[in-house]
Amino acid sequence: MRVHVADHPLITHKLSVLRDKSTPSPTFRNLTEELVTLLAYEATRSVRTVDVTIETPVATTTGVAIADPRPLVVPILRAGLGMLDGMVKLVPTAEVGFLGMVRNEETLQPDIYAERLPDDLSNRQTFVLDPMLATGGSLIAAIEYLFDRGAVDVTAICLIAAPEGLAAVEKATQGRDVTIVLGALDEKLNEVGYIVPGLGDAGDRLYGTV
Ligand code: URA
Repeated sequence: MRVHVADHPLITHKLSVLRDKSTPSPTFRNLTEELVTLLAYEATRSVRTVDVTIETPVATTTGVAIADPRPLVVPILRAGLGMLDGMVKLVPTAEVGFLGMVRNEETLQPDIYAERLPDDLSNRQTFVLDPMLATGGSLIAAIEYLFDRGAVDVTAICLIAAPEGLAAVEKATQGRDVTIVLGALDEKLNEVGYIVPGLGDAGDRLYGTV
């Protein structure tokens, strides 16, 4: 597993405003979108391309186009939805699928309650959007699901991760082509599964249900 923690003052600045509990939802949503666009730039560094011939007003030259099959972007509902606009702003030709996950209160494992993905994921480069990598449970389930459906590599874009969650994803995905791109790697998880210092519940802060 490759982990890339963004090291850029603009990202750290925007994350600091996002963490502030007095930042209202509209600002939180805008900043999330901006942050994802910045992280997506890093996350798409290995996106597959093909050479194309183009005519400039002056000469014929070779450029590149994003290769088929198009990259697939999969926000994990609900909070991952707040990251989608920032991602497709940078990769407008990407296809978008959806995964809804909920914790099964009996097994304590994440269950997929909603799924809207292309039938054939074989050979797909896939980008999962999930703002908070806390215990890693839902991200692991999403990554396994996508590989089972034929994806060839999965890159997860997260705003903030806890070391415990990162270690869990690493352990569960050994031998797979997995990359995690983070805005920040925080200190720890607290006893109720929140990232410390974190930013609270990302879904609530995005959608104003605090
Ligand atoms: N999910 C969140 O939204 N925030 C956390 O701190 C942990 C999980």
